[in-house]
Amino acid sequence: MQWVPQSGREAHGSEHSAILAVLSVLMDQKVTFAQGLSGTVLLPADKSVAHRSALFAAIADGTSRITNFPLAADPRSTLSCIRQLGIHVTENRPGEIVIEGQGREGLSTPEHPLDCRNSGTTMRLLSGIVAGAGLRASLIGDASLSVRPMQRIANPLRQMGASIALSDDHAPIHIRPQNPLSAITYPLPIPSAQVKSCVLLAGLFAQHTTEVIETVQSRDHTERMLGLKVKQQGAARHIYACASDPVPCQTLSLPRDFSAAAFFLVAGSVVSEGVLYLPSVGINPTRSALVDVLRGMGANISVGPMHQTGPEPIADLTVRPAELQGITLSGALIPSLIDELPVLAVAAACARGRTTVTGAAELRHKECDRIRATVTNLRTLGADVHELEDGFVVEGGMPLQGAPTDSLGDHRIAMAMGIAALVARGTTTVRHAEVADVSFPGFWDALRRIAIRA
Ligand code: S3P
Repeated sequence: MQWVPQSGREAHGSEHSAILAVLSVLMDQKVTFAQGLSGTVLLPADKSVAHRSALFAAIADGTSRITNFPLAADPRSTLSCIRQLGIHVTENRPGEIVIEGQGREGLSTPEHPLDCRNSGTTMRLLSGIVAGAGLRASLIGDASLSVRPMQRIANPLRQMGASIALSDDHAPIHIRPQNPLSAITYPLPIPSAQVKSCVLLAGLFAQHTTEVIETVQSRDHTERMLGLKVKQQGAARHIYACASDPVPCQTLSLPRDFSAAAFFLVAGSVVSEGVLYLPSVGINPTRSALVDVLRGMGANISVGPMHQTGPEPIADLTVRPAELQGITLSGALIPSLIDELPVLAVAAACARGRTTVTGAAELRHKECDRIRATVTNLRTLGADVHELEDGFVVEGGMPLQGAPTDSLGDHRIAMAMGIAALVARGTTTVRHAEVADVSFPGFWDALRRIAIRA
């Protein structure tokens, strides 16, 4: 891999303090074909768990200590928002965060809009807290977040009595004090952990017990970390939250991010030689379906003994090259690998036979339209890929050829194309590759370090 000169323009200009700043410059990354990949990759901490650890610590009574908190831009947006709500956050050493929780009654009205930048999890979960706490606040985001759907959280919060104004379906979200909220029973219309968590967090402030019902399981970090009551009734999961539920202080070392591991699980499978070792990765079953799916395609992935240091299970992962075959995916499995589908499409392009993914229309509402972005970029590299309304079809086995690709400002698209580039003959350029910093600062360095060149 080579580095192109950086242009010096700032990609994430904002007011963060020096220690919290993740400052990127707009960058086009060149990646060349690699014979293999070998080594250990220390992945960043789990983004979903990091957001929640900070948000829950803010409304806990007392001090939380979180280690291995990531430098990634998204969780840093959450930290900067809770600071604006009057929460004291210190970081004595990088990744060692102390948060002085003020309890559910202790948040202050922010003086300025809460800038969630690129982070949907920050915006949707924080809206539940702000509405529940009866604060006046506006939540804003960058250009990508400002076109993502927010009615999905405004609807249930309004049912609870919150006063929320959007512009159409989008941020900015203006929340006005309306206290106290009333409990609701809310069957989730879409399998979204962000919507589920938003309603449950608002439920922690409401009178009586709020119940969220999901018929398709979404990631369960919120209920695990808060220790919420969960009942399984047939296919339906009922999750409960109320004002008397304790919000525990967190003393937590965050697991490494399975969604970051996904890029290396695919990369280590599709190259011709080497072995990759990924230690201490979170393997929460509501997140890690990609392991089973890749194994179903023929991948050689081993999962070491599971251990549990907090609410989340962790294991070491090892991956070796393998001949992959196409697979058909749909239905209830999709939410447990929704963020991994762009890189799964790369595996599919390298596999023998057809891969079909359906039931994944939610991909169109991520940091960009990930169905369109994945299909367009892989086609540019020579793959045989077709767009479906709710997924894609890949006819695997076409040789990939290096070409210019575009992240479209989406971290997972940038990294997926970085992986595709390893098996494309010649050189691929990933435009706006700096956006990987949203979840994985150091991704391009990690890739360069483990690449075996002929
Ligand atoms: C997340 C939930 C998922 C996922 C996102 C993180 C979370 O989004 O795609 O990257 O931390 O709750 P949805 O809730 O929109 O499915």
